[in-house]
Amino acid sequence: MTNTIEADTLRQWLAAQQPVTVLDVRSDEDRAQWAIPGSVHINAYDALRAVQPGALATAALPVDRPVVTVCNAGRVSQVAAAILNERGFDARSLVGGMKAWSLAWNVADIPLADTDVHVIQIRRTGKGCLSYVVGSGTDAVVIDPSVEANVYGELARTRGWTVRYVLETHIHADHLSRARDLAGRARATLLLPAQQRARFPFTAVADGQRIQVGNATLEVRHTPGHTDESASYLLNEAAVFTGDTLFTNGVGRPDLHAESEAVRQRARALFLSLTTLRQLPPEMLVLPAHTSEPIAFDGQPIAARVNDVSTWLSGWIASEPEFVERVTARLPPAPPNFVRIVELNEAGEFPSGDPTDLEAGANRCAVR
Ligand SMILES: [Fe+2]
Repeated sequence: MTNTIEADTLRQWLAAQQPVTVLDVRSDEDRAQWAIPGSVHINAYDALRAVQPGALATAALPVDRPVVTVCNAGRVSQVAAAILNERGFDARSLVGGMKAWSLAWNVADIPLADTDVHVIQIRRTGKGCLSYVVGSGTDAVVIDPSVEANVYGELARTRGWTVRYVLETHIHADHLSRARDLAGRARATLLLPAQQRARFPFTAVADGQRIQVGNATLEVRHTPGHTDESASYLLNEAAVFTGDTLFTNGVGRPDLHAESEAVRQRARALFLSLTTLRQLPPEMLVLPAHTSEPIAFDGQPIAARVNDVSTWLSGWIASEPEFVERVTARLPPAPPNFVRIVELNEAGEFPSGDPTDLEAGANRCAVR
């Protein structure tokens, strides 16, 4: 029997900065898609599949720490762990491989000048999904939950907050929403931007509306473009949750779930939304729902000041026709399974079985 390690244990090790070598044995192609931050890569996939004992002969790994071997689904990595165990390493194979790792997450505290309100960024490290817990006094709101519901409940509980609201910026296409599940468990109010897509009970929020959480106020701004209903939420004068409308280094793709002429229309709507967002106070923090790279366990927030974003965004939105051209010419390939994910998110259903069957893989929400 090979020694193994569960994805959640590895997550805890990395979060605690425990010394470990993560050895990725996948092909160059798979590695290029996404990877565990800080991992070492040796393309030994074919040799390991053929169970060649010399497969990892060139691997010079530190001997003073455990090695976690990683492949796509946790089978070939067992061969790698066995070979390294033979060589005297404390090697363990990651159960379920990168597919299981797709659920791993870490956190970063967002520094705000306002001490009355606290924001925690919860990052789904592999997929790059960013969600937030905003707490003030004894109340909290969770925005765009993308990891298991109990993670948010536990984070809120340890800070002395009760989750009053669960809020989405839009109907997601890249991950299965945990919003409905979390709202049910926490007995919180589920808030979604006004739209006709969701087929389950929710409370609609519209442009200009305010949501009070302790001493914090979230103000709704309708910012269509990525999707028709996409909204951004202004947290006092401190931060703005931009969903997939505006990222720290790119903008939301306007093409998912739209016909080609609708894509251009959405790109025009996105142009107007970005023009509005750029006019927010320069010191305000932009807190998006995604990043394109796997997220390190470094506690560093993924955020940018409106001022910093303006530096590149101004060029993008100098003219509407050029913006539409640019965005539609740079669309990345559609995320895997997005049609099915959208269907489930509109129905408010969560598939029984393993959600990573649908969700695994890199994030492709941005145009850069
Ligand atoms: Fe999205």
